[in-house]
Amino acid sequence: MSVNKEIKRITTHILQEMKQRGERIAMLTAYDYSMATILDDAGLDVLLVGDSASNVMAGHETTLPITLDQMIYHAQSVVRGATRAFVVVDLPFGSYQGNSKEALNSAIRIMKESGAHGVKLEGGVEIIESVQRIITAGIPVMGHLGLTPQSIYKFGTYTVRAKDEAEANKLKTDVLALQEAGCFSVVLEKIPAKLAKEVTESIHIPTIGIGAGPDCDGQVLVVNDMIGLTKGFRPRFLRQYLDLYSGIKDAAQSYIKDVKARDFPNEKEQY
Ligand code: KIV
Repeated sequence: MSVNKEIKRITTHILQEMKQRGERIAMLTAYDYSMATILDDAGLDVLLVGDSASNVMAGHETTLPITLDQMIYHAQSVVRGATRAFVVVDLPFGSYQGNSKEALNSAIRIMKESGAHGVKLEGGVEIIESVQRIITAGIPVMGHLGLTPQSIYKFGTYTVRAKDEAEANKLKTDVLALQEAGCFSVVLEKIPAKLAKEVTESIHIPTIGIGAGPDCDGQVLVVNDMIGLTKGFRPRFLRQYLDLYSGIKDAAQSYIKDVKARDFPNEKEQY
């Protein structure tokens, strides 16, 4: 595996160059210091402090309940653990949809209070004024199209988006608007692989796919899903690299056994 550890910090410029030379961008979510330290050391290019923290860290059914303060707390922890990766943070539901001033204030709070390097917003032309205003303030913005979980109650289901022509055309219009506004990258979530390929080839900013096939410029997964911490969540797009749920459960059961049997702590494990 070749990870260029000479690079002091991944920047939007480096991500752009990676697209140009066909080098894939590896992105995972992170929500806390310990995980960010490991993922950064492994060589991830981008760490996303996703609002999926609402699901996997807080146990909510959707991403809607997480607050801006909570996102900032997670972002601060991740930034402390990441020395090389570019750290991008989701603007949570309700922190940017109102108007562009509210969006800018939320983005500024994230940048000022966490030290992150960019923000991510869900949506296309309907939020373009906010995207422009944030970028004008010097804050890098990543877009997010396709399945946008903050709109789950509009969609009603987590199935694949943009399968019909009208929605695919809307997505193509949205991605061009985001590029035109100055976004440095865009996440494409759960759309047909063919559409993701077409979109990726039609724009000069990198696309990062999740459930969007192999032709995006990069890939992202929710780290808890990828390491098998999320019980019973096995969508088709997910490759699970570890079964940490079982690993941690086994370890916890061994610990319980040792404590009950008065085997822990032993002579060497005391003062
Ligand atoms: O919040 C999140 O984890 C995300 C990824 C799924 C892209 O937005």
